[in-house]
Amino acid sequence: MIKLENIGSLVTYNSNLGIMDTLNDIEIIIDNDLILEIGNNLRKIDNVINCNHKLVTPGFVDPHTHPVFLNPREDEFNMRLKGSTYEDIAASGGGIRSSVSDLRNVDISLLVSKLKSRMDSFLRYGTTTVECKSGYGLNIESEMKSLKAINEVNNSHPINMIPTFMGAHAFPQEYEKNHEGYVNLICDEMIPKVAKQGFAVFIDVFCEKGYFNPEQSRRILNVGKKHGLIPRMHADEFQNSKSAEIAGETKSISADHLMMVSEEGIKALYENNVIATLLPGTTFFLGQSNYAPYTKLKEAGVEIALATDFNPGSCSIQSMPFIISLACLFLKMDILDAVKACTYTSAKSLMLEDTIGSIEEGKKADLIIWEIDKIEDVSYLVDSTPIRNVLKDGSEVFTA
Ligand code: NIG
Ligand code: FE
Repeated sequence: MIKLENIGSLVTYNSNLGIMDTLNDIEIIIDNDLILEIGNNLRKIDNVINCNHKLVTPGFVDPHTHPVFLNPREDEFNMRLKGSTYEDIAASGGGIRSSVSDLRNVDISLLVSKLKSRMDSFLRYGTTTVECKSGYGLNIESEMKSLKAINEVNNSHPINMIPTFMGAHAFPQEYEKNHEGYVNLICDEMIPKVAKQGFAVFIDVFCEKGYFNPEQSRRILNVGKKHGLIPRMHADEFQNSKSAEIAGETKSISADHLMMVSEEGIKALYENNVIATLLPGTTFFLGQSNYAPYTKLKEAGVEIALATDFNPGSCSIQSMPFIISLACLFLKMDILDAVKACTYTSAKSLMLEDTIGSIEEGKKADLIIWEIDKIEDVSYLVDSTPIRNVLKDGSEVFTA
């Protein structure tokens, strides 16, 4: 057992009260991987961590990342500075497709070692659970190789990785003139094989002009569902593609990006309990200013999660504390709402809110001991990560 003493401020979602809670001058007893007790003057335990009257929060849950790639695409960053858009770059042969040839040719062991070091960084930023998409293989063999790499790293790394199959990330070169052929390949061969492989929990589709249209997206998600995969979507990122409506219709657990979502789309999300996962890091990294309409979504009653969208093309950010700063600055989120969106609601979007995402008795001991006193400093200290320790399943996995 471990006792966390002298916690100055414990900030967490409280699922009994349904609110974000701040408890001052508190202690926690951890038994193996679980939180056993939260309170004052708890019993004496030999193994003590002194939190020095600082802040403690749940570990972050990042519900949208694309970490299975070989090389970053910094050349595209510079092309955007010269005026090209993300869509222009993709249309001229860059973008997602340019990460595909790399990945297809690489041995799984190199992919595993790249993925491991990326997971080390996530952990240093306080992320204890991370959703990981495939989607740079775009053929049966390489999509399965990507999911296998996620599974291998998950088995040997303290971070918890939740795999998502995203064969519908883009059309590979060989199907350039036969989009329906690729959709057939996904539905008739990839999904059954991925389901049989048994690693992927979710299925994701990039529903956007130039990528998968609403009909194709609907078909792929429905076939995925038949094979036990839970749908989530990249929706209404660059254009309004009515993808939020498809997310509602397919009962996707989450619709992500939503920079261009319409009023009808917002209604469809609310009516079908679809979580809106907002990715302000991507808007920022692409040098854009049209952030997702957080206030409208919130006022419509849609639940909001936040994620990094870490990937080689449109967002190199791995830090949830930085995403919190962006969400406060550009989405005008309240700091406590932002923390809830990065912990409890993001866990809910991975269907894990009963075990992670908040510091409550009986839940997993995934938590961050900070070097700061109060939660407001997480957003205020934009370019630093004042984290002292990260605990995952009750073990210290990072110490500054
Ligand atoms: O979420 N929008 C689609 N996928 C990623 C970008 C992936 C890439 O450019 O490699 C995203 O932004
Ligand atoms: Fe993405």
